[in-house]
Amino acid sequence: MNRWIPVCTVEDIPALGARRVAREHGLDVAVFKAADQQLFALLDRCPHKGGPLSQGIVFGHSVACPLHNWNIALDSGQAAAPDHGQTPRFALKVEHGQVYLDAHELETLATEATRPLAGPARRTCPGAASGAC
Ligand code: FES
Repeated sequence: MNRWIPVCTVEDIPALGARRVAREHGLDVAVFKAADQQLFALLDRCPHKGGPLSQGIVFGHSVACPLHNWNIALDSGQAAAPDHGQTPRFALKVEHGQVYLDAHELETLATEATRPLAGPARRTCPGAASGAC
């Protein structure tokens, strides 16, 4: 059973763009808005070399990674052929304009994924929770 928590409103997400949702552990989750107003949630990490998908260009139901232009399907996180790899997808629901993500997934899904050390991606310090950074 899902335990939904509110993360933002639909209006908070730019058209053909994304809003990042920070997590206590692990990389951010990116909530995308397509041209047809459908919303999708993926880990903010490209399956290629970790680029920040939230900074990519949304077209159709895909996002083009800003680093090397791989196309990632928003509904599955799957890279378009001939590229391969998958970004974890998060469950999402919308009620009365409020966007919700599943608390259990936020706490547990892909928390071990790391950012590359170079590039425009925001870095997450593994010791941040303990004040070590
Ligand atoms: S890191 Fe996304 S295409 Fe290379």
